[in-house]
Amino acid sequence: MQLSTIYEPVREDLVRVEDELGLVSKVEFPWLAELLGYSLKRGGKGIRPALTLLSGKLYHYHLNTLLPMATAVELLHVATLIHDDAIDKSPVRRGRPTLYKVWGEEKAVLLGDYLFAKAGELTATTQNLRVIKLFAHTLRTISTGELAQTFNAFNLGQTYQQYIHRISCKTAALFVLATESGAVLSGAPEASVKILNEYGYNLGIAFQIVDDILDFIGTEEEIGKPIGSDLAQGTLTLPARLLLERYPEDNPVKRLFQSRDRQENVKLAIELVRNSPIIEECYTVASDYCAKACRNLNQLPDNASRQSLIEIASYVIRRKR
Ligand code: IPE
Ligand code: IPE
Ligand code: MG
Ligand code: MG
Repeated sequence: MQLSTIYEPVREDLVRVEDELGLVSKVEFPWLAELLGYSLKRGGKGIRPALTLLSGKLYHYHLNTLLPMATAVELLHVATLIHDDAIDKSPVRRGRPTLYKVWGEEKAVLLGDYLFAKAGELTATTQNLRVIKLFAHTLRTISTGELAQTFNAFNLGQTYQQYIHRISCKTAALFVLATESGAVLSGAPEASVKILNEYGYNLGIAFQIVDDILDFIGTEEEIGKPIGSDLAQGTLTLPARLLLERYPEDNPVKRLFQSRDRQENVKLAIELVRNSPIIEECYTVASDYCAKACRNLNQLPDNASRQSLIEIASYVIRRKR
């Protein structure tokens, strides 16, 4: 099933999120409007705002708060991508030159900050203290995850638990914000808020594992960003970990983490991973997280949005972009 079909229960309101994002670029200063327009142009999958609206549709669908929240969630996401690309010195995102590439590091840092602030303002318009606190907590968690990644770059001594913790911070936290805020703002009972929190967490982990897989087996045309960039940055993802375990002695990941022939060893590692059962093993781990994400959804009201949440979990596994 295509994403557009999965999003059907909230299709019209996702268009309104796009309109809201468009409004964010309408500012007085032409130079800022240009940067904002460039960053907020369509092109992403829009999974996170869809999760907020779908979670909100299970109970009382108050669009006056859900709409700014869904917009805030996407803005927070875009801001993290702008910073992430500047940190990674990555040239391409969503099939276009990154903001960093076109305008440089300073503008990327400042525009990311601007978008974090705008996302905070929109969250505050909900006047829901719990959601406002969750927003601040999420931003801090993502920063912690990105810091952990930087501090652990080219470190071979990381455990599997550290990997899961890092991706839960840098990626799953935002999925939790998306689903939990939707639940809270629609007045879901506490037990359901918890179920949607756990759904967001497990789905987010699966999403990042698949992203880490696609960094090995994807194509730049399909995913719209460079391949092999995690290894080049010294980020030890699940496929790289499994390759290390499989060949503990003579291993390209080991060599490149020790600064030997980086480009050549990235290529070798990708080739080795592609021609091994490692990718399948990683997909099994991701699928287990998706199954965990969905295991309690049957306790939520049975409607089309609940079905879409289930479909998103299966989409996350088979996605190519
Ligand atoms: C990319 O997220 C960042 C990760 C957490 C891996 P998406 O793959 O959702 O990015 P867009 O919004 O569709 O471009
Ligand atoms: C993204 O992780 C997580 C963020 C907080 C932005 P990645 O570094 O894997 O994202 P991509 O692959 O650049 O989209
Ligand atoms: Mg990155
Ligand atoms: Mg990635």
